[in-house]
Amino acid sequence: MSEIIIKNVRKEFDDFVAVQSSSFTIEDGEFFMLLGPSGCGKTTTLRMIAGLELPTSGEILIDGQDVSRLPASQRDIAFVFQMFALYPHMNVRNNISYPLKSQGMRRRDMRAKVAEVSKILGIEDILDKPVGGLSGGDRQRVALGRAIVRDPKAFMMDEPLGALDAEFREHMAEELRSLHDRMNATTVYVTHDQLEAMQMGDKIVVMNHGVIEQFGTPQDIYDRPATTFVAEFIGSPAMNLIRFEGQLAAGDDAVSVGSHRVAVPQSSATAAGKLVLGVRPEHVQLNDASAEGLAARVVATEYLGTTQIVTLESEHGEVKARTAASIDVGVGENLRLGFDVRTLSLFDEADGKVIPSALHDQARDRAGGWAHG
Ligand SMILES: Nc1ncnc2c1ncn2[C@@H]1O[C@H](COP(=O)(O)OP(=O)(O)OP(=O)(O)O)[C@@H](O)[C@H]1O
Ligand SMILES: [Mg+2]
Repeated sequence: MSEIIIKNVRKEFDDFVAVQSSSFTIEDGEFFMLLGPSGCGKTTTLRMIAGLELPTSGEILIDGQDVSRLPASQRDIAFVFQMFALYPHMNVRNNISYPLKSQGMRRRDMRAKVAEVSKILGIEDILDKPVGGLSGGDRQRVALGRAIVRDPKAFMMDEPLGALDAEFREHMAEELRSLHDRMNATTVYVTHDQLEAMQMGDKIVVMNHGVIEQFGTPQDIYDRPATTFVAEFIGSPAMNLIRFEGQLAAGDDAVSVGSHRVAVPQSSATAAGKLVLGVRPEHVQLNDASAEGLAARVVATEYLGTTQIVTLESEHGEVKARTAASIDVGVGENLRLGFDVRTLSLFDEADGKVIPSALHDQARDRAGGWAHG
């Protein structure tokens, strides 16, 4: 299959910039997620890779070949649309073999190919049925069959599960992922659902207003967010952003938040002014009022079975903690908050970017750079 390189790709519609100059690499065989809120430029990016839209500037390379100016028909990429448009008057077999037929493939080869694909998808027993009466899941499989039957270089999927209800969606997500693992086909998948991106992706690009905020593995994006936007967009509840006035010199490994010293990963830069401490709810430790730490009062608890979400009010705003449900905390209780130093991120509020530490530098290097800015 194929490696796809996006190099300084930009898209303007008249004077509106839908995608700012973007660069990232999709490695051969990767399940690659384009993630971000509505209107951030995901579909436009996907359409440019497929050749359904030409970039205003920049280059797209597929297996080393510059395809930026090639039409979709010459890129050998399969585009799986959200609304699976099957041919309603044809049976499953003919729907799947349609792309082969239009290529002029021989009948016998076509039958063999359809047999191979339907085996991968587990739909051998419905090949002769009309598509009209199929369940949503089977329709989805047939549409996928039609996309994979011609062995394209890569698959583009634009919110393919968007129209499904939650339970079925999860089931199809697992199926898509396991199908990918069997075929190892380079896949670019658009979603605005951060959980879906985390569960399914090998790599994630997070976009916002046409700008790439960060890309990397789900774990690096979760643990080492490059911007406050990523910190808040990923995770549920989101990462806590504790705002304070402070300063930090390169080499510092603690910062004053109000009257408290908080240990942070050793900074590799200098920063001063409005700063933001980022901490995931599961890394907030609840200690009793006599301990060291940020003072906070419990305002709500939400029981989730094995864990609970505890909402606290501090002089630096609201903080949410995720703890074991067995820990006894009551509304109105005064506590002290502790943080696990290795899990903290510090941001500059002015531009929303992370103040680099060795841990963030490592995540950025693993991703091959962060393109934001
Ligand atoms: N053909 C077009 N002409 C003008 N503006 C466009 C065109 N296509 C997209 N846009 C604009 O570009 C921006 C990005 O659109 P895009 O469809 O890529 O977003 P998206 O991230 O896929 O959003 P969604 O999650 O809602 O599908 C939007 O503001 C959209 O209105
Ligand atoms: Mg879209």
